[in-house]
Amino acid sequence: MTDEPQISLRGVTHAYMTDDGPLPVLRDLNITVQKGAFTAVVGPSGCGKSTLTRLIAGLMFPDEGEVRLGGKLVKSPRSTVGMAFQNPVLLEWRSILRNVLLPLEIVANDLSQSQREDRARELLALVGLEGFEEKKPSELSGGMRQRASLCRALVHRPEVLILDEPFGALDAFTREDLWQIMHELRHEEEFTCLLITHDLRESVFLADEVVVLSGRPATTQEVLKVTLGKDRVLDDLYTPEATDMLAHLRHQIQIAQGRGEELAA
Ligand SMILES: Nc1ncnc2c1ncn2[C@@H]1O[C@H](COP(=O)(O)OP(=O)(O)OP(=O)(O)O)[C@@H](O)[C@H]1O
Ligand SMILES: [Mg+2]
Repeated sequence: MTDEPQISLRGVTHAYMTDDGPLPVLRDLNITVQKGAFTAVVGPSGCGKSTLTRLIAGLMFPDEGEVRLGGKLVKSPRSTVGMAFQNPVLLEWRSILRNVLLPLEIVANDLSQSQREDRARELLALVGLEGFEEKKPSELSGGMRQRASLCRALVHRPEVLILDEPFGALDAFTREDLWQIMHELRHEEEFTCLLITHDLRESVFLADEVVVLSGRPATTQEVLKVTLGKDRVLDDLYTPEATDMLAHLRHQIQIAQGRGEELAA
């Protein structure tokens, strides 16, 4: 056991090499997420949020600074990380159950085939997909596919769950359903979560803390502690407390966008 934060980025600076020269994307970025916590990251479009997720998962490495998971420097892709994206990218030739089982076929584990299937079925039931195990992805709605992709991200019990705008392509009602499912998953499963989102209400409803990134090159502009209780419900988003937090975040995003334009000039 360690008292280290589960996710730690310190002084992370990164640029992409492009035909037009280096494109600075992240600059001296610091983010800390304690074990079991849920942090949302918001920021202007194109500021470097997806780049940040690739650095945490060990799919890329920063030019400067360090990324640590559970205190250990990230030097290669980590199987202790589960990821889900805006596009669920399920394999059409596999059933929903076999899509969810995929990480258990890749990541080392000592589960028997029947234990693997029990685990996948348990998660699918938790997100309301009981009875859809043998369907193909195209037979499901967008919201159902995204629920299956959350199960796939969690099936190997990752310590860290990274969600990059997973609900961005869904309609408003389906999105709210998924927020509630995320709440239940958080209650049932043990993971530390970093959620990238453009939706400020989503960030306040789901997270303990919201990190606002500046325009590119992104750095940490603001960290807001969400003061709603752990057993919050959707109606809490309409309380004066939540409205104040949302107004504050909206203002911060406006500042971030202004700064981005200034840098681009
Ligand atoms: N592989 C790459 N090579 C060169 N430039 C890249 C690469 N990936 C991303 N970029 C550029 O880096 C910047 C940040 O990209 P990134 O995808 O991290 O932003 P983002 O904050 O996730 O954007 P969005 O909000 O639109 O999802 C963008 O200007 C993008 O064009
Ligand atoms: Mg992105």
